[in-house]
Amino acid sequence: MHVSVIGSGYVGATLTGCLAALGHEVTAIDIDESVVASIEAGEPPMAEPGLDSLYAENADRISATTDYAAVRDTDCSFITVQTPAREDGSIDPSVVLAAAESLGEALAQKETFHTVAVKSTVIPGMVEEEVVPRIEQAAGPEGETFATAVNPEFQAQGSAVDDFMHPDKVVLGTDDDRALDALRAVYAPLPDEPPVVETGRREAAMMKYANNVFLAAKVSLINELGNICKEYGVDSYEVAEAMGLDDRIGAQFLRSGVGWGVAVSPGTSGF
Ligand SMILES: NC(=O)c1ccc[n+]([C@@H]2O[C@H](COP(=O)([O-])OP(=O)(O)OC[C@H]3O[C@@H](n4cnc5c(N)ncnc54)[C@H](O)[C@@H]3O)[C@@H](O)[C@H]2O)c1
Repeated sequence: MHVSVIGSGYVGATLTGCLAALGHEVTAIDIDESVVASIEAGEPPMAEPGLDSLYAENADRISATTDYAAVRDTDCSFITVQTPAREDGSIDPSVVLAAAESLGEALAQKETFHTVAVKSTVIPGMVEEEVVPRIEQAAGPEGETFATAVNPEFQAQGSAVDDFMHPDKVVLGTDDDRALDALRAVYAPLPDEPPVVETGRREAAMMKYANNVFLAAKVSLINELGNICKEYGVDSYEVAEAMGLDDRIGAQFLRSGVGWGVAVSPGTSGF
């Protein structure tokens, strides 16, 4: 399949290399010319273990441009632009909405059906209520020539390639059968046949937040336990290791000392 990836930061650049490695033709679209130049030169725009070789080995299937018209040669677009947090903790969707508008303008001149999969982290309802109307402004009503899906990414910086190629799950949130078929085809070549959760857009968006919140709570909890251990002169790492032996708890995200939200090392935070 020929796909486009809109936004080539951590998620988009990893997606580009991984989808090319799965055999798809990938066109990366970014407004940052230096990012596009890097991808065109065969190099990912940021460092991530394993990504250099994916770009080198699959150079013939990867291209990049700043021109949204390129989406018209593709069957499916993934929106992977940033969703920064505002002061009050809410997300700022303005970049996603700007990308949706540009995408809609390009799709207005496309004859064949197009799938738009939102990978950026958005709150439940945002795709239906805000993203879709932006695309529709130029491209016409959803369901005719395009349909949307929420396809969250569960990767951590430092292990993003491995997380994508060997995921614990793939979440495909859409009500449209054509979009669902397109996304099934995108992920079909994954080597381990991971569980695929087929669901609605709102549920898919919530699954990403639920995952993040659970992992953040686990890191916060182990940090609090670390403080208590310190007070009592107890080795917190030994305690955490023993906790992790319990299948109900699991060993991951039990390293105390580092808060969540900043990528420090694989499996620690940055989810
Ligand atoms: N970084 C992670 O580990 C991670 C993991 C899972 C999910 N996410 C989510 O994925 C999304 C992307 O995160 P990221 O860390 O890759 O962001 P990022 O800031 O690294 O990259 C965003 C890219 O989008 C480009 N861009 C901005 N506006 C654009 C536009 N209108 N059209 C095309 N390109 C545009 C930027 O130039 C940049 O290259 C966010 O919603 C984030 O919450 C991130």
